Amino acid sequence: MNLYFFTYTGNSRRIAEIVASKLNVKPKEIRTYRFPYPIWLLLSFIPFLGVKIDVDEPDDDRILLCFPKWTFNCPPITAFLKKFARGREILMIICYGGFDERRYAEFYRKFALKCGAVKADYLIIKRRKLKESPADVEKEILEWLNP
Ligand SMILES: Cc1cc2nc3c(=O)[nH]c(=O)nc-3n(C[C@H](O)[C@H](O)[C@H](O)COP(=O)(O)O)c2cc1C
Repeated sequence: MNLYFFTYTGNSRRIAEIVASKLNVKPKEIRTYRFPYPIWLLLSFIPFLGVKIDVDEPDDDRILLCFPKWTFNCPPITAFLKKFARGREILMIICYGGFDERRYAEFYRKFALKCGAVKADYLIIKRRKLKESPADVEKEILEWLNP
């Protein structure tokens, strides 16, 4: 399995690190522009918009992707899926602040399939839970990965 993350404020990196330590894989960062918050917020309102990303190519058919919930769109993730989802299984761990997370997760599940993924699934994690009970989050992730 290849493990990727995109983060703006560090939570998705933290989730990727939890997964990495349990599965003994190396997390790879999806790097992109360092825009200030108002610019990302604006772009997050435009569905299907991608941005230029800098990332190591996957070398496995299973990808676990950790990223934040952003309004309607997280452009670096959209770009990643357009580029790499085809023919692969896409598992997504989405970290959110507090609202509209299920619709967004469903949107990305369907989008991954539209991009050619053979399978797509997700787990959503609330930012506060990650901060307050990381052990519970770790357990939840492991149960989701190995039902
Ligand atoms: C541009 C932007 C848009 C966001 N939109 C939402 C939102 O619609 N719903 C929500 O619950 N959280 C929203 N958030 C909060 C993030 O999902 C939350 O802080 C997440 O933990 C950030 O992950 P990160 O630290 O890996 O960047 C938004 C954050 C940003 C920067």
